[in-house]
Amino acid sequence: MVNPCFVLNLATFLTSLGTDNNLVGFDPRGVRNSGPNLSCFPNGELGTSRFYHDIDAPIDYSDEKSYARAFERAAAFGDFCTKAHSAPNDTAKYANTVATVNDMRHYTELLAESKGQEPGKSKLWYYGLSYGTVLGTTFASLFPSRVLSPNFFPVGRIAVDGVVDAEDYYQGKWIANVAESDESFRYFFQVCYAAGEGGNCSFWADSPAAIEARFEAIVNDIEIRPIPVAIDTPAIVTASDLKAYSLQIPYSPLESFPTFADMLVELEQRNGTSLAYLLQIGRRFHDDCEAAMPEWYEDVEPRQFIACIDANDRYNLSTFDAWVQHTDTVVNMTRYFGEAWAPATSINCRKLNIKAPTSQVFEGYPSASKTSNPLFFLSTILDPVTPLRSAEKMTKRFGGASLLIQNSVGHTTIVSASECTSGYLRNYFDDGSLPEYGTHCEADQVPFGIRK
Ligand SMILES: *[C@@H]1O[C@H](CO)[C@@H](O)[C@H](O)[C@H]1NC(C)=O
Ligand SMILES: *[C@@H]1O[C@H](CO)[C@@H](O)[C@H](O)[C@H]1NC(C)=O
Ligand SMILES: *[C@@H]1O[C@H](CO)[C@@H](O)[C@H](O)[C@H]1NC(C)=O
Ligand SMILES: *[C@@H]1O[C@H](CO)[C@@H](O)[C@H](O)[C@H]1NC(C)=O
Ligand SMILES: *[C@@H]1O[C@H](CO)[C@@H](O)[C@H](O)[C@H]1NC(C)=O
Ligand SMILES: *[C@@H]1O[C@H](CO)[C@@H](O)[C@H](O)[C@H]1NC(C)=O
Repeated sequence: MVNPCFVLNLATFLTSLGTDNNLVGFDPRGVRNSGPNLSCFPNGELGTSRFYHDIDAPIDYSDEKSYARAFERAAAFGDFCTKAHSAPNDTAKYANTVATVNDMRHYTELLAESKGQEPGKSKLWYYGLSYGTVLGTTFASLFPSRVLSPNFFPVGRIAVDGVVDAEDYYQGKWIANVAESDESFRYFFQVCYAAGEGGNCSFWADSPAAIEARFEAIVNDIEIRPIPVAIDTPAIVTASDLKAYSLQIPYSPLESFPTFADMLVELEQRNGTSLAYLLQIGRRFHDDCEAAMPEWYEDVEPRQFIACIDANDRYNLSTFDAWVQHTDTVVNMTRYFGEAWAPATSINCRKLNIKAPTSQVFEGYPSASKTSNPLFFLSTILDPVTPLRSAEKMTKRFGGASLLIQNSVGHTTIVSASECTSGYLRNYFDDGSLPEYGTHCEADQVPFGIRK
């Protein structure tokens, strides 16, 4: 079983598992094709709404008024969406991690039954990415015998990749995520420089610091004077747009760095066309033009809802002071991501009053001390949203679990193929064997086509 993910590189993944497995991908409750429908715009007005361009809009660290705007925007989001999901349309509360984990267990039982096996002894075989690591570790924590039992055959497996600090997650903080964001982003400056003059990085300069300065100059320029664009409608691209977009860049360096470099060259010449296209700024959104809607719009509500319901009001950002302090903490951890990350995460829970039934509230943090067939954790060496230290922390909470570190930058190992990592994954799914804790693997490629 695999949770789908915006970064899912299925080809790489299939190769890594070999041909002996049937893959079952699923949308967790409330996501895309799985009900309940979490949209606050149940009649499909989502596409016409400018709301999702605004709700996650980065704040400006130097402008205190922007803190207030983000704070009140989150209130509007909470009030509006709470109302949209009140009776009779009040099934959103069932979309949460514990419920999805029960769905996963139920699935394994039905599958066992269909094969004439005892449902109560069914096992989960699972590969989870990013948020899917919360599902995997929660499952192992609630049903350890369904993953990890020496007594029954077949024994389940759980491999999790791009590991969320599930304690921070269930506390509703979303702070642990950004511990390595800046370093991950700076990898762009390093590897762009390493591509060499006249090489594959169009934004090259004669040191990583010079490239960084060139990037800063663009941000400063647009901060003072946005760039006009004329695509379907007149519009401007702002520094805030560039910051929001930059957040995505180190998720998948192999894929994003070359385009990012080209886009920066354009922006430097005050040409905002590519950035506008990438963010769908100045595009027309209407019913017969759904394709023009950025794909991530569909995920904004589910991501926010599931996280808020799971957090169950544990993190209190109800006062402006608490919000300012939270933002300072995040921005101090990451100057490149903080202004975009803070307004897109915990603050949006502050007025979203949707409560899971008590039986679906997860208390504490995922862990399981006694496991005979252990979990497999995977992390890159620098990950912009699920840092290595989170993987280290979570691995230690599961008895006998092991951690593999892939020497690449990006979110999850699968964004950079690695023969070495694939080999260990195959072994794990074949016979449960694990590499030693802290084993490193090289990626097969680095960005801009430079071979190691
Ligand atoms: C469900 O939500 C989507 C937006 O994600 C919306 O377009 C669609 O119309 C909704 N469907 C129903 C049946 O409410
Ligand atoms: C409930 O949702 C439906 C669409 O699924 C919508 O047409 C209706 O207006 C909603 N009811 C309320 C009271 O919001
Ligand atoms: C701006 O960039 C776009 C996209 O790369 C390109 O098609 C266009 O010609 C550029 N405009 C100018 C004035 O250079
Ligand atoms: C959050 O904090 C505010 C102000 O300190 C307090 O009034 C409120 O009851 C708290 N809410 C929760 C859910 O703890
Ligand atoms: C963030 O850094 C600034 C400047 O270094 C400092 O004044 C502030 O106290 C820090 N805030 C937090 C919450 O750490
Ligand atoms: C540039 O990238 C291509 C593949 O995209 C690669 O074949 C080539 O060797 C790279 N050039 C340099 C100088 O690294």
